[in-house]
Amino acid sequence: MYPELQKEISTFEKRTPKSAEAHKKNLKRIPLGVASNYRAYDPYPIFVKDASGSKFRDLDGNEYIDHNLTFGALMAGHCHPAVMKAVEKRLTTGTMYGMPHDMEWELAEEICQRFPIEMVRFGNSGTEATMHAVRLARAATGRDKILKFEGAYHGLHDAALVSVKPHAPDYGDINAPTSVTGGLGVPKASLENVTIATFNDLASVENRFKQFPGQIAAIILEPILMNVGLCMPKPGFLQGLREIATKNGALLIFDEVKTGAKLGWGGASEYFNVKPDMICLAKSIGGGLPLAAFGTSKAVMSLISDHKVFHGGTYNTNPVSMAAGLATFREVLTRENYAHVEKLSSKLTEGYRKTVAKVGLQGYIVSAGANGALMLYPKEIVNYRDWEKIDVDLWRLYWFGMVNRGVMAQPYWWDEQWTISVQHTEADIDKHLAAFADVAPLLAKAQQERTEPVGVATH
Ligand SMILES: Cc1ncc(COP(=O)(O)O)c(C=O)c1O
Repeated sequence: MYPELQKEISTFEKRTPKSAEAHKKNLKRIPLGVASNYRAYDPYPIFVKDASGSKFRDLDGNEYIDHNLTFGALMAGHCHPAVMKAVEKRLTTGTMYGMPHDMEWELAEEICQRFPIEMVRFGNSGTEATMHAVRLARAATGRDKILKFEGAYHGLHDAALVSVKPHAPDYGDINAPTSVTGGLGVPKASLENVTIATFNDLASVENRFKQFPGQIAAIILEPILMNVGLCMPKPGFLQGLREIATKNGALLIFDEVKTGAKLGWGGASEYFNVKPDMICLAKSIGGGLPLAAFGTSKAVMSLISDHKVFHGGTYNTNPVSMAAGLATFREVLTRENYAHVEKLSSKLTEGYRKTVAKVGLQGYIVSAGANGALMLYPKEIVNYRDWEKIDVDLWRLYWFGMVNRGVMAQPYWWDEQWTISVQHTEADIDKHLAAFADVAPLLAKAQQERTEPVGVATH
């Protein structure tokens, strides 16, 4: 371990004793001491006391500028006034009905006007959205196989938990990656029904359609691979997928759980000018409450209307989440707010680039919409296997260094990215950049003194 990292971790431990204590208690009753595996890291995760706007405080009272924002689910920032007002109003008129109400068509209208889809159904999480989209695609095509990309994350259902973070030698040839289970309990049948291709490699996709003619129901992807930091699609890649899907009678599903709200007003289809057949939305569309949706054409949705595909859910369209969603679409995810976030994003990105160049750090910055990341690689990564070769301790030095200086630069884990909320300010970005200016020389020094070869990410 780098001595600088050791120092930052002991500073972290001195600053956050109450989190250590709380984690110890949690561990007694909750596996890993957390409610979602992503929240666990060494030596222990920061426990939150409260949050507001662009910041949160931990149990010890330390304040942080928050670019974790619930793994990118809070483009609205914490407690956005418009969302809070809408939610508070709804709290006294029933929090769930299990019956239809008049906010449903209003939010469906908002979504269908913004994204190239004709009908939607609602849910509560990204996992649900991609699970139902995949099922619909299978029903619409009468085929069982799904094509997904190595390293992509689409949630926790069986079809999604395949080749999320596979390793050599299990993952085989990069031109035809082997389907690898994302943990015990995923049935073998899922592996057979999920075929894997390499992001940014159209030939690997074409090959799968040749190998399984008439058997692949859909290509599912995040238009920007965001489970490996930030990996942009090469020019023509998304258009190429559109053509391959159409040519082979398969559906193209954009998993826009992250990109739908955080890339720009019209999500990835507007940003990249490519029209998918289905869109999955969640995270930031709820403004801080659990809300998800999947949408497609009337023709595909007729499978639900005709009772051929089943979709349901007790908490679907609960009025509190729906009120939050409506306020989010109408008052948070506005063109003006996207312009504000773009401005902050340019400032942050440019500031990072200047510092990286000044200290001679080997790495690059990539950003798109509200998202961005410091990528500690000698050259731009184009797929999961490029991402896998990373100096994890160098990244940890970045993360703990920033946290100790009051900036949660992104969620913990080197496969994540920062989010800028509509409530972040120029002053927040200045503070973020000042912290990075302090940390970057430590990173450059550690990188220069590195004696071991760069390893492979185990997460
Ligand atoms: C692209 C993508 N799809 C799906 C999901 C699953 O969403 P949820 O955690 O709400 O189930 C995530 C969550 O990180 C995601 O990033």
